[in-house]
Amino acid sequence: MRAARYLTGGPDAGVLEIVDRDVPEPGPGEVRVRVSVSGVNPTDWKSRKGGGLTAAGLDEVIPNQDGAGVIEAVGAGVDERRVGERVWLWLAQWQRAHGTAAELVALPSEQAVALPDGSSLDLGAGLGIPAMTAHRCLFSGDGIGAGDAVLVHGGAGAVAHAAIELAVWRGARVASTVSSPEKAQLARAAGAELVVDYRNEDVVAAVREWAPDGVRRVVEVDLPANADVDAEVVGDHGVVSTYAVSPKPMQASRTMMIRNAAIEFVLVYTMPEAAKRQAVADVTEALRDGALTQLPVRRFALEEITAAHDAVEAGFVGKVLVDLPR
Ligand SMILES: NC(=O)c1ccc[n+]([C@@H]2O[C@H](COP(=O)([O-])OP(=O)(O)OC[C@H]3O[C@@H](n4cnc5c(N)ncnc54)[C@H](OP(=O)(O)O)[C@@H]3O)[C@@H](O)[C@H]2O)c1
Repeated sequence: MRAARYLTGGPDAGVLEIVDRDVPEPGPGEVRVRVSVSGVNPTDWKSRKGGGLTAAGLDEVIPNQDGAGVIEAVGAGVDERRVGERVWLWLAQWQRAHGTAAELVALPSEQAVALPDGSSLDLGAGLGIPAMTAHRCLFSGDGIGAGDAVLVHGGAGAVAHAAIELAVWRGARVASTVSSPEKAQLARAAGAELVVDYRNEDVVAAVREWAPDGVRRVVEVDLPANADVDAEVVGDHGVVSTYAVSPKPMQASRTMMIRNAAIEFVLVYTMPEAAKRQAVADVTEALRDGALTQLPVRRFALEEITAAHDAVEAGFVGKVLVDLPR
């Protein structure tokens, strides 16, 4: 099979190239998927460049955690009727050497989830990391419910877009910050009721007018930059759920303390197993309900994998997808 790979050590570490590899055999409890589309996330280029969470002891990595395709073989203990199923893949390369930037990938059966009829492979290839992270940010602990107000920062981002759609699906009201009219349109299309340009408008005033008692949850992409805003808009006992870290300094907030509000950190890889299972179940239900949609897509061939990673690193607005040869 054809695959993209990089080495993890030496002078060529992180350089992507296309290679031929043996067809992976699914082990017990695994399935082999013929990948149609591989989805690229920031974590993929960060890990490749040494700033991520690649498992120790790997000489070579086939990158990319997300993807979609069709099951073509099953290992011992997996129902043979799964062969032929269209599936979306999550955390394919977590703690493993082989991700989705390959014609074929073998992975645990539960990490290949049936795609409902009507959900495209492209949509499926963009679900794993963004939708599962978004789900945890919204539903950890006592989570959000119908009628709750939620603020999602950076609403055109992959995680944020999924967060808006999942929150709306659950019956919540959503406000979102953005930095341009193009991004505002994407946030609105996802279902945000209130969209605020955080570079040119007063976010606190707008959100407080929209939700006078404050929001129950903030889904946060840049905590140090937004900490003061978050403290002013979060309601009593609310949660600021942050999924990205930055090296900027941040001061502990007295306002957060007065509100008995919490700051929670989310990492999709290490979230509790029960939370992963719940995220998969809810994302599947939301797909069936037609509640999850596709951001604008930029496509690359497998041979263009470096350009695909670069596009994500450069902040392409939408999803970057890599097509595998048929
Ligand atoms: N913890 C986890 O498990 C997890 C999971 C997925 C992703 N991540 C991390 O989360 C980050 C975003 O991932 P992604 O895939 O969603 O990326 P993305 O699609 O590039 O979206 C990031 C969005 O955040 C916006 N943004 C940046 N700074 C902002 C600020 N101060 N206020 C409001 N919006 C801001 C950006 O737009 P503007 O800059 O134009 O505002 C952009 O729309 C990456 O660092 C990624 O590595 C972590």
